[in-house]
Amino acid sequence: MAEIKLSEMRDLTRIERIGAHSHIRGLGLDSALEARSSSEGMVGQTSARKAAGVIVKMVQEGKIAGRAVLLAGQPGTGKTAIAMGMAKSIGQETPFAMLAGSELFSLEMSKTEALMQAFRKAIGVRIKEETEVIEGEVVEVQIDRPAVAGAASKTGKLTLKTTEMETVYDLGGKMIEALGKEKVQSGDVIAIDKASGKITKLGRSFSRSRDYDAMGPQTKFVQCPDGELQKRKEVVHCVTLHEIDVINSRTQGFLALFTGDTGEIRAEVREQIDTKVAEWREEGKAEIVPGVLFIDEVHMLDIECFSFLNRALENDMAPILVVATNRGITSIRGTNYKSPHGIPIDFLDRLLIISTQPYTPEDIRKILDIRCQEEDVEMSEDAKVLLTKIGEDTSLRYAINLITASALACLKRKGRVVEMEDISRVYELFYDVKRSTQYLMEYQSQYMFSEVPAGEGDEDETNAMVS
Ligand SMILES: Nc1ncnc2c1ncn2[C@@H]1O[C@H](COP(=O)(O)OP(=O)(O)O)[C@@H](O)[C@H]1O
Ligand SMILES: [Mg+2]
Repeated sequence: MAEIKLSEMRDLTRIERIGAHSHIRGLGLDSALEARSSSEGMVGQTSARKAAGVIVKMVQEGKIAGRAVLLAGQPGTGKTAIAMGMAKSIGQETPFAMLAGSELFSLEMSKTEALMQAFRKAIGVRIKEETEVIEGEVVEVQIDRPAVAGAASKTGKLTLKTTEMETVYDLGGKMIEALGKEKVQSGDVIAIDKASGKITKLGRSFSRSRDYDAMGPQTKFVQCPDGELQKRKEVVHCVTLHEIDVINSRTQGFLALFTGDTGEIRAEVREQIDTKVAEWREEGKAEIVPGVLFIDEVHMLDIECFSFLNRALENDMAPILVVATNRGITSIRGTNYKSPHGIPIDFLDRLLIISTQPYTPEDIRKILDIRCQEEDVEMSEDAKVLLTKIGEDTSLRYAINLITASALACLKRKGRVVEMEDISRVYELFYDVKRSTQYLMEYQSQYMFSEVPAGEGDEDETNAMVS
């Protein structure tokens, strides 16, 4: 690999699983990092949110690598929601990668390879490149009629000016096409990348601000550039190490980034890339941007994964690792040892622990309000009171799930507003964990592989932190 490919990267939008957390738009903190009682879709859980905000701040200030944070708390107390909030408030340029512990065991690659890829998705590289651009206000675009009808190559002329000079450029077919695609017309201020021929519209010149015909509501006005038409400009790309890995691994190719079908990446490829990136850093061409790697359900990891994490965090490019679990004292996967959260003590020792607390009825009510809005469900006051009560007695997540179901029940009876009757209907229809467990206890002899001796059993998920 003589040179590392970079051209094809950029703007691969992060793939996030939305749905349950679609209402979360940030952490809802003020400028002093205090949690607002309800903001950006976030309600309550103020100290955990504040702590998460401090972590985000650390990440944004950059340069801090290899720290790890644990979000610990009962199911449905907003651990995943807080991680989503961190992702949203961290900014576009900082990478955020997310992984659920169980995914490691279902991918078609080794656990450590999957973890390695996740780590490298959370490490950004900011690369500076100098390019030559032509930047000016379009005076005129003139396209010649082909002498012979249907002749393949069009020609034309483009006149550009700055406040100090004006130049006429000859146009080839490719440029004409590009100008057409961007709908460039006189009065636009454009930049042309000399190496790639890429045209960027910067806006409309202020001198045309009275030209009502040629603008939409979003028209942006800019000054006519001054000085020379040709300039050297510094452009900055931000990519992740994983993106560089995939693009440069011959068996995969660039498209693998979209299909997610990246397979295992050879160690030599990574070594070469690390060497190259180190060179760029020394030359001042590149900077490392440590991002955030979030591993949900971390108790699903086994002892091998934990030792991988221990080692990976020592790397000087390591991202900030955030893990979450709802387990109390339980055995570490792959061993017979028990430990807090199912996490080995040596790894636990690295972690800053943020704990999430059960919600108050007011918080539950507010979160349900937000979810109703998010799902476009209208609900009567009585119904909301009932649903809040259900949320207190069962779980927040169960109550949230009933919103959609009760809206369907309401629709079925041709109602417009969800009433108490719809809520109680779906409450009977869908069991929560408590009732389901009770039912299983009563009828277990009729199920296959029943292991619980009569009269015993956990109320929640096995080992989950039940207060
Ligand atoms: N503080 C909060 N503000 C708004 N919505 C929340 C909050 N906490 C949890 N939720 C929502 O409640 C549901 C359950 O929370 P979740 O984050 O999945 O819990 P956990 O990961 O701790 O089990 C999700 O839909 C989540 O978006
Ligand atoms: Mg969760």
